[in-house]
Amino acid sequence: MSELTLYRGEVFDFIDSPSNKKEAYRYFPDGALVVQDGQIIDCGPFKETKDRYTDFELVDYSGKLLMPGFIDSHIHYPQAEIIGMYGKQLLDWLGDYTFPAEQSFASPEHAGRMARFFIQELFRNGTTTCMAYATVHPASVTALFSVASEYDMCMLTGKVLMDRNAPAGLTDTAERGESESRNLIETWHGKGRNRYVITPRFAISCSTEQLIAAGRLHEQYPDTYIQTHLSENKDEIDSTLSLCPDCRDYLEVYERAGLVTGRSVFGHCIHLSDSECRRLDEAGSVVVHCPTSNLFLGSGLFDMRQANRIGMQTVLATDVGAGTSFSLLRTMGESYKVQQLNGYPMSVFESLYKCTLGAAKALHLDDEIGSLRKGRKADFIVVDYAVTPSQQIRMDYLIRNGQWTLENKLFGLQTIGDDRNIQATYVVGKQVK
Ligand code: GUN
Ligand code: ZN
Repeated sequence: MSELTLYRGEVFDFIDSPSNKKEAYRYFPDGALVVQDGQIIDCGPFKETKDRYTDFELVDYSGKLLMPGFIDSHIHYPQAEIIGMYGKQLLDWLGDYTFPAEQSFASPEHAGRMARFFIQELFRNGTTTCMAYATVHPASVTALFSVASEYDMCMLTGKVLMDRNAPAGLTDTAERGESESRNLIETWHGKGRNRYVITPRFAISCSTEQLIAAGRLHEQYPDTYIQTHLSENKDEIDSTLSLCPDCRDYLEVYERAGLVTGRSVFGHCIHLSDSECRRLDEAGSVVVHCPTSNLFLGSGLFDMRQANRIGMQTVLATDVGAGTSFSLLRTMGESYKVQQLNGYPMSVFESLYKCTLGAAKALHLDDEIGSLRKGRKADFIVVDYAVTPSQQIRMDYLIRNGQWTLENKLFGLQTIGDDRNIQATYVVGKQVK
């Protein structure tokens, strides 16, 4: 028999969406998580759970929170070096900072170094799965899947497709992009925990022919994913519509190419019409809210209440390097502020769901990740509620006043927490932070 490890601590995970029911989660203040061969085999109150096993190693995290690792549904690994660059909105930011940095990924050595940095930075921040953009260079995808495979991490990524409106060193052609993507799908998709994401960057950088090629690829490999950007910035929308004058709106550009599907993941979606929202919802597509990026680039305020009213699937993500932090705690905190500006004080349960089980469901991965249910991979984190003087004094105040509730604990992590609160990160039961 292989070894059992029992982790003791406060155990939390979602069992449903908090918008479906109030008690959509499990919370065991003195709980246990039992792991064998990289899988969760049990989870419950400590005493009862412990009594079901005779021989196990005990790892005691009493007083700390054990919860599923975060899922970052939209991030650019080649942009780690250009986080926090001054003064531009989207289109100038791409031209001045992003494209020069992405050109360095023509070097496989650079890509390998950056892939390793990126994955370690995810783990430091408690993120155990991401859907990432690579660059136009196939070797950038190979580098990221290779490092992820060393950790047996669940990685979703793909080669960026772009055949226009970018420097020569960063463009492919519709034909080359399709054949390079096909080779990468054949090599990596479904190998270990790797999944391929067909990645037309956005309509401005992809000809109609290239978008159609991307749609064709997805038809041939229907269990791959599609990721792109949609309706992030007003100048981007104007430019897209002038490049595609017979489309009535931005979404139609992607619809015509067969790119709006139940496995499509659209970044930003800030300036959508009700019609576009409804069509995304009908297709079962996923909308990704990236608050730190939207604030940093001055792109606009995503309206979560509108999204909820229509019933769209929404998740949260960092969008590094336009996003300003790898931390999904920081991201949740900024999403709260954006929604406050919209008059919608979003609950911490809603934001946390969109970084865990909600994201796993949206990505059709909830059999594998997103919760601590039996049979899921042991991708989990250990969170310390109070690692700074400010967090400590807030905690002391709430304890003194009998208000140290789960909601207040989680809301504090969201509002003033960050990578320092992530005490440990586990991927398939192995400690990686
Ligand atoms: N739209 C097209 N490419 C990008 C990118 O790299 N970052 C962001 N935020 N938006 C984009
Ligand atoms: Zn992006």
